[in-house]
Amino acid sequence: MSKRTLVTAALPYANGPLHLGHLAGAYLPSDFYVRYKRMREEDILFICGSDEHGVPITLAADKEKVFPQDIVDRYHTMNKESFKRLGISFDYFGRTSSDTHKEVSQAFFKKLDEKGVFKKKAQTQLYDPKAKMFLPDRYVVGTCPHCGNEEAYGDQCERCGNSLSPTELINPHSVITGEVPVHKETEHWFIPLGDFQDKISAWLDQQKDWKPNVIGQCRSWLDGGLQDRAVTRDLNWGVPVPYDDAEGKVLYVWFDAPIGYISATREWAEKQGKPDLWKKWWQDQDTDLVHFIGKDNIVFHCIMFPAMLMAHEDYILPKNVPANEFLNLEGRKLSTSKGWAVWLHEYLDELDPDYLRYVIGTGLPEAKDSDFSWRDFQARSNGELADILGNFIFRTLSFTQRYFDAKVPELKNPEARDLEVLKGIDEIKDKVTQAYETYHFREAIAQSMNLARLGNKYFTEMEPWHLRKNDLEKCGSVLHICLQISAALSLLFDPVMPGKMKKLREYLGTNSLSWNEITAKMLPVGQVIDQGEILFKKIDDEQIDKQLQKLQERRKSNIDLSNFEPLKDEITFEAFSGMDLRTGIILSANKIPKAKNLLKLQVDLGFETRTVVSGIAKQYDPEDLKGKRIVMIANLTPRKMMGIESQGMILMAEDNKGKFHFLTAETDPGSVIS
Ligand code: 2FM
Ligand code: ZN
Repeated sequence: MSKRTLVTAALPYANGPLHLGHLAGAYLPSDFYVRYKRMREEDILFICGSDEHGVPITLAADKEKVFPQDIVDRYHTMNKESFKRLGISFDYFGRTSSDTHKEVSQAFFKKLDEKGVFKKKAQTQLYDPKAKMFLPDRYVVGTCPHCGNEEAYGDQCERCGNSLSPTELINPHSVITGEVPVHKETEHWFIPLGDFQDKISAWLDQQKDWKPNVIGQCRSWLDGGLQDRAVTRDLNWGVPVPYDDAEGKVLYVWFDAPIGYISATREWAEKQGKPDLWKKWWQDQDTDLVHFIGKDNIVFHCIMFPAMLMAHEDYILPKNVPANEFLNLEGRKLSTSKGWAVWLHEYLDELDPDYLRYVIGTGLPEAKDSDFSWRDFQARSNGELADILGNFIFRTLSFTQRYFDAKVPELKNPEARDLEVLKGIDEIKDKVTQAYETYHFREAIAQSMNLARLGNKYFTEMEPWHLRKNDLEKCGSVLHICLQISAALSLLFDPVMPGKMKKLREYLGTNSLSWNEITAKMLPVGQVIDQGEILFKKIDDEQIDKQLQKLQERRKSNIDLSNFEPLKDEITFEAFSGMDLRTGIILSANKIPKAKNLLKLQVDLGFETRTVVSGIAKQYDPEDLKGKRIVMIANLTPRKMMGIESQGMILMAEDNKGKFHFLTAETDPGSVIS
């Protein structure tokens, strides 16, 4: 029996368009995997859909002053369409506002409640008295108690990945009104994750082939001890808690969203006219369940959802969760709110989907964060797709067309070099297979491109343009081999560039689409080929400049100028060069009696020691300042502060929260800054 695998890709929130970060996290790797598995003729089901509940949706609606339903309708349609245009081959793309999802997630909740899994308890929650509402999850922002990120959300810190509850945040404030929230009591259902700790830990111990980043995050969670986690919220948007006396309470989005995978599978089964078919995918131990996600979703897929599935008792658990790290953009963290993103639908309006699939595929953040840059996009498109793969295909097809009557020539008396190249097809196929099986998609793509390199090198070395004149038979053999390589490439690259590879197979006159068919004998002698069009055109500088400009403009229009001090009037170069800026090292720092803000510093300027009075006492402990490298204005007229003559001024940057940061230079004291 062929292996059965249910592949899910994280349900994207329907609160905005998809961007490249989404693709690199979950959607391209899952699509590569599924397409490969389908070619292996395995039994595969690929499920996704829109995550339409939770605070991300209501916040987007609040911002635009529309109903949450308007937001999810807009982005569900848009994202579904973008996925299709990119060639993401979901078998079913559902949505969590569907009736089926409501029924399935309420039944799931009820079953766990009836089994006595949940604890119902009163809890103190943050409440915004001005907005008259509780502040669950992303309705509150504050400082992360784990890493100090001042922009951590009430449910999660995006910097360190820790999951949080709003009351853990330091200096919390409401994102609706900016108010400091008060504490107010409310009652909720909790899943006592601690009760599942041993079972989850034992289950994770068995997962020897999971990625280290995934296991590492789970372990650190388990080491911290699993806590009770509320599975309901006080919100008016979501799946209602299915009890009459639970007015105003809905299921927590991270409770209902993963159930969305199940409800989408049920909807798919209904559509097949076999409503019970979903059970085979979710309740049969012969099914492998694989969740593709980004790293911020690890805890929910590896701890919370498995605990829910264990508690329900009749579901399978994930076989693997190959989570990816994050994709940066042009060296910076992607940020939709700051306009630092490339929107998928905009890309697809202007450029080819397969180029993007390839370039992101070669740089997937599999083991650590990676970067997308437009220059790299151009370099890889031109240097690899056009110059290596495209060039090889073009040379092979046009030569066959011109000198062999557009028919696959015979392979006659192959010599050692020919046999070695033919063997290369099988060897590379094995490497690509191994890479796909172990979720190493970058490697799968790199190895596939190696076959095109091998073909190109062979073509160049054999010089068929000479052979054609003095050894036509040998020339035919060379072309035969190059055509077989082209055919193998058209399948090896199919998971990554399905559109282009389909075209290539049309040119080669082959319908093969099974991984088993990738051999050195894919094309029969005499088969008619078509030269076709150039498969990969080059991307020119203008196209790239346009994208870079768009990015910069979007960023500029999203900058909140009120966060920045206005620029001062222009000065002359002479005025600037009149300042004597020097590096120094703080030798000592002391408090000044009766001056809460000031510290008295002794600064080594190399050629002399200066006394400087600085207004940083509130932010720095004198002890921490000893040995600190600084930059100061050394020719400022001395002035007296609290009776002490200050002989210079230390330069500091003040951020928009009023915090001071030293300017430093790793050089000897007394160095001139110009
Ligand atoms: O992080 C996100 O975009 C979530 N909407 C992912 C949900 S995955 C699943 F559980 F539905
Ligand atoms: Zn943090």
